[in-house]
Amino acid sequence: MFGRFSRRHFAKLAGISALGMAAPATAAESNATQAAAADPHAPGPFPAGFVWGTATSSYQIEGAVNEDGRGRSIWDTFSHTPGKIEDSSNGDRANEHYHRYKEDVALIRDLGAKAYRFSIAWPRVFPEGTGAPNPKGLDFYNRLIDELLANGIEPYATLYHWDLPQALEDRVGGWQSSETSKAFGDYAAYVSERITDRVKNIFTVNEAGRFVNFGYGWGIDAPGLKLPTAQLNQVRHHVALGHGLAVQAIRAKGRAGTKVGVAENIAACVPAIATPDNIRAAEIATRELNAGFLGVILEGKYTEGFLEYAGANAPKFTSEELKIIASPTDFVGLNIYAPQFYITASDRKPHFNVLPFPASFPHMNSEWLRIGPETIYWAPRLAAKIWNIENIFISENGTSSEDKLTADGKVYDLDRIMYLRNYLAQLQRATAEGVPVRGYFLWSLMDNFEWIFGYGKRFGLYRVDFETQARVPKLSAEFYRDVLAKNAIGV
Ligand code: BG6
Repeated sequence: MFGRFSRRHFAKLAGISALGMAAPATAAESNATQAAAADPHAPGPFPAGFVWGTATSSYQIEGAVNEDGRGRSIWDTFSHTPGKIEDSSNGDRANEHYHRYKEDVALIRDLGAKAYRFSIAWPRVFPEGTGAPNPKGLDFYNRLIDELLANGIEPYATLYHWDLPQALEDRVGGWQSSETSKAFGDYAAYVSERITDRVKNIFTVNEAGRFVNFGYGWGIDAPGLKLPTAQLNQVRHHVALGHGLAVQAIRAKGRAGTKVGVAENIAACVPAIATPDNIRAAEIATRELNAGFLGVILEGKYTEGFLEYAGANAPKFTSEELKIIASPTDFVGLNIYAPQFYITASDRKPHFNVLPFPASFPHMNSEWLRIGPETIYWAPRLAAKIWNIENIFISENGTSSEDKLTADGKVYDLDRIMYLRNYLAQLQRATAEGVPVRGYFLWSLMDNFEWIFGYGKRFGLYRVDFETQARVPKLSAEFYRDVLAKNAIGV
């Protein structure tokens, strides 16, 4: 039906980045404990102090693309290029969040969520990517941060959710050049100096595993390039370098104690059948299939397997760059939607098999979003073990759904509730076994501009009418509110 559609769905699934305290028990928690005790089969509570939030990103919700001195981003250019977006839409207006942010903060508060992950648009702050900052750009985020805090909501800021200043793409080829890595470090320094009096947690880069491959390899995300493998590996290396420089900048310019980490759509490997051999194989697969980004960030080196596989296409790097890339972080954010690889053990190198998916494997409303709740158990468990990670956030998880408004003005998104219930049960299992997951950000607070799908895919807890901008809570908003109130999945 849509030209790139099947390729894109396939790509989203097959895309691999290789080729990145306990507080005293609350009343809610003890209620949940009692409820869980009443039904021995029900999932127990989440740990005390578990962070519950929702997530959004700048270009997907803000609109106001020509206001207050914002520069153009590669997504402005890409979404205005005919044939790139499924419904020919763009983010010019989106959710008008730039003007409606107070209303949107109230939506978060109404869920009972105490955390919110948003992203800062680099071209609002540095319209040209580098050089003179636009103070009005950061003013918006200062207003947003203050509004969040006034409502008892902890801000978690992401510095890069794909809206690269177009000027950098034009001048140096965007992430093809380490000039962009340096510019990202400078932008991180400027922002962290000004927000870390109030923002205690910063994500550097969102989903390199997607935007590098999709944007620079397959031409299906901005900036729409199809570079050969060697250059693509170099782009990924520059993004990792940008992350490292941003970590160093935040340490240098941000308040002491600011916590920082990456948010990555880890290539999620699941043992097809949980035998000890398959679990070990899934561990090897997780390390190798994430070696090009998460691995180098967490290990300070590319694995032998990665370098061997890449051969002449391996990225060019210095040992000094590897040190920067591996600057110590405080947490790792994992965006987890779907199982990417089901794994079994193999006696032969690389000591794992990737199994083919049967065509009948079930998926949600988005074709790429295969249903595998156990992914949110295995991915953090394996990542924590391989890289000794002490703090993990699920920085995104959620699903699209048809989300029709019924005659009574409601949205009965029972499929989203089914998805969330099952994924959260597996996440609870992980925390109960001691996997260090500290929090969860549901994608998304509200329907928004879903990149190449435009407004055709709805991921929100709130339905948005993009004509009137009315926000209506879906049934899943009620479900999520109930989970948060109990710190447990309702039984
Ligand atoms: C993640 C992104 O890949 O998934 C989000 O970080 C995105 O920005 C979400 O909206 C859903 O993906 P898609 O491709 O269906 O819009």
